[in-house]
Amino acid sequence: MESKALGGDPEVSFTFNVTLAYGAPSCFARPIVLVNGMFEPAVYIHQGDVLKITLVNNLPASYPGVSDGISIHYHGLHMGGPAAWFDGASYISLCPITAGSTYTYQFKVNDPPGTYLWHDHAAGFKGDGLQGPLIVRPRRAAPMPPAGLPPGAPAPSVPDLWQYDDEHIVFLSDWYHATMNSLMFRLNMPFDAAKVTNDSGSWNWIGNPQALLINGRGFYGDCPLFAPAGANPTPPVCAPTSFTVPPGRSAQQPWASNNNPGCTHERLVVQPGKRYRLRIIGASTLVYMTLCFEGHNVTLLAADAMPVAPVSTRCVDVNSGQRLDVLLTADQPPANYWIAVAPQYRVGSPAGYAVLSYEDPSTNATVTPAFPTTPAPQIAAMPPWSQEANEQVVMAPELLVPSNGSALAMYRREGQPTLAPPKSADKLVVVNLTQPLLENGQLRWALGNVAMPKTPPCSPLMNQLRRDPAYLTMAAVPASTVNGTGAGPNVGIGSAGPSRSTPLYLSGVSPAPLYPSVGLNIVQLEGGQVVDVILNNRPANENNGDYRPNGATRNATEQHPFHLHGHRFWVLGRGTGSFSPELHGASLNTANPPLRDTVTVAASGWAYLRFRADNPGVWPFHCHILPHIFMGQQATSRQPLSPEKMYNFAPYTKSWLRAKWGLSGWELPPLF
Ligand code: C2O
Repeated sequence: MESKALGGDPEVSFTFNVTLAYGAPSCFARPIVLVNGMFEPAVYIHQGDVLKITLVNNLPASYPGVSDGISIHYHGLHMGGPAAWFDGASYISLCPITAGSTYTYQFKVNDPPGTYLWHDHAAGFKGDGLQGPLIVRPRRAAPMPPAGLPPGAPAPSVPDLWQYDDEHIVFLSDWYHATMNSLMFRLNMPFDAAKVTNDSGSWNWIGNPQALLINGRGFYGDCPLFAPAGANPTPPVCAPTSFTVPPGRSAQQPWASNNNPGCTHERLVVQPGKRYRLRIIGASTLVYMTLCFEGHNVTLLAADAMPVAPVSTRCVDVNSGQRLDVLLTADQPPANYWIAVAPQYRVGSPAGYAVLSYEDPSTNATVTPAFPTTPAPQIAAMPPWSQEANEQVVMAPELLVPSNGSALAMYRREGQPTLAPPKSADKLVVVNLTQPLLENGQLRWALGNVAMPKTPPCSPLMNQLRRDPAYLTMAAVPASTVNGTGAGPNVGIGSAGPSRSTPLYLSGVSPAPLYPSVGLNIVQLEGGQVVDVILNNRPANENNGDYRPNGATRNATEQHPFHLHGHRFWVLGRGTGSFSPELHGASLNTANPPLRDTVTVAASGWAYLRFRADNPGVWPFHCHILPHIFMGQQATSRQPLSPEKMYNFAPYTKSWLRAKWGLSGWELPPLF
C-alpha cells in the first residue's frame, strides 16, 4: 500500500502475515514459513521512501521453535537515528516477536538503490523461508532511464546501472528437510565425539543441505556438480530433472501445494537481444555458492549494492548475505540454457539449477524442449572443487574494485565527502575466530575465545545501554591488557559479561584467555572514529584452554561470511594465515578498496576491514552462517561492532529433546 508519510515522503506499507504451512520447494514436503501465503516474497521500495512493515506472527504457538519468536532485519540497509530501533536484530534492538504478537517497523530508506535482502533475525526461521529479496529502486524523483539500449551498445557505465531492458531476481538458498530450529537446537547439546549420530541426543552438526534453491525452487536429488576431491575426477552424470523419492512419499508429483508451486526448476525467461539485470542474492544458511551461466558471460555491475568496475565472467561467487548485480545479454541462439549453483567447500552438497529460457520471437512462447538437452554438469569454466584448505572461488565479491569514483557521487552517504577510506584508523580490533569447547561440553563458535550467549529473558541490549550507560564501562577491560598485533593503537574494548563480572576479550589479548568463556563481546566506539578490524580465522581450538579431553586438538577452520549492521566497511585486504603487519601491512589497499557490508573470511585466512563509526546505535557484527550464529553481538552507546555466534545455554535432557523434537529432530509433530 502506498501513501504519504508525515513530512510528505511516500510511504509504502506492507503487512507480513507469517504462517506455517506444508510446502515442497525441493519436492519434499515439510513445514515451511510463508508470508501472506507466499514463499520468500520480494519487497520493492524506492530510495527516499518510508517503508513500514507490520509483522504479524501467526505461527502456531505450540509448534517447536516458535517460542523463539521472529523479527525482520533489512540486510544492507543502514537504519539511522531513531530508526536504529528498527534494525530488527533480536536481543540487540528489540525482543523477538512471539507467536500471536505484532510489531511495526517504520524507517526511511536512505541507502543507495540496489539489491538487498530481508530476513528473520531471531531464531532459525530464516532457514525455513522467512526471508526474501529487498530491492531499492532509484528515488521517485530521479529521471527515468531511457528504456533499454540499442542492441550491441557497450556495457553500461556506472551511472547507467539501471539501463537494461528488464530484470530478474536470482535468490539463492540452501534447503534442509528438517526445520532449521530443530537442526540448530542440536548444536546446543554437549559435544561427545563418540555419540555423534542422528539419534544420540548429543551435539550434532546440521550437515549438508538436501537441495539448493533458486528463487525458492529446486529438486531434492539434484546431484553434486563436482566429484569429491581425489575421487573420480569426471563430473557425475546426472539428470537434473530426476530425483529421489523420499522414504514414505509417493512418487506422484508434485508434492507442492497451492501455496508453494515448488518442485520445478525456476525459469528465467529472456527475449533475444535484450539486456537483463540479474539481482543475485546469497541467502543460504550455510553454504558458500558459485553460480554459473551456460553459454553466457555476465558483466559485474554491483556488489552489496555498490557499483564495481565491470568484469566479464562465466561464474560468480556469492556467500550468505552477499549480493551481486550482473548484466546478462540474451545474445545466444534462442534455446534453453542451464543456470547452475554449486556449493564451495562442502563435499557431497547438492547443486541447484534454473533454466535461462529464450522466447521465440515468432511465437512469443519459450523455446522447446523445456529443458536444455545437455546435462548441466557440462557447464564449463567451473574450477576444480576442493575442501577447506584453499579458497577455490572464481570471482569473490571482495575482490571487485569500485567503479570510478566520480560516478559514485550518488552512493556516498550523507556527510561523507568521499568513498575512499580514511588513510588511518583511530582504533584497531583484532578478532580471532575459534571453535572452543566449553566446560559444560558445549561446542561454540567464538570471537577471541569468547562465545556469545542469548540473553533470556529478553531485554534488548540497546535499551539496557540507553538506560544505564555505565553498563559498558563497569566491566571494561583496561586497554593495557588488550593489545593488537602491533599494527595500530591498543584496542579499546568495553565489555560486559552476562553478570557484568565475566571478563571478555575480543581479540589479540596477551595472554589469551586460557579457557573459553561466554560474554557479550561489546566493543565501545565513539561517533566519528575510524575503526580497523582484523579477522583471523584460527584453528578451531587454538587457544588451548579448550576443554577437549587429553589435549585433543582440532585444526579445522571453515570460511565465515562476516556482516556488519548499520555500516559499510572497506575491505583493505584478505589473505591466508593470520594478518601480520610486517608481511601484509604494505599490501593493504587504501586507495580504492571494495566497499561492502559482508565479507568472506577464508578458511585459515584473514581479512582487514576499515569503517567509519558514523551511525550511533548498537550494531551486530557476526558471521552470517545461521548455525554458527544465532547472532552474537553487542556494541556500544555510540557505535558498533559486536561478534558472532552465541547460543542458549539451558541444559536439555535427552528425554526433553525427544519429547520436543522427536528422536532425531527430523520427526516433527503434525502441524494442525
Ligand atoms: Cu543478514 Cu545480522 O544479518
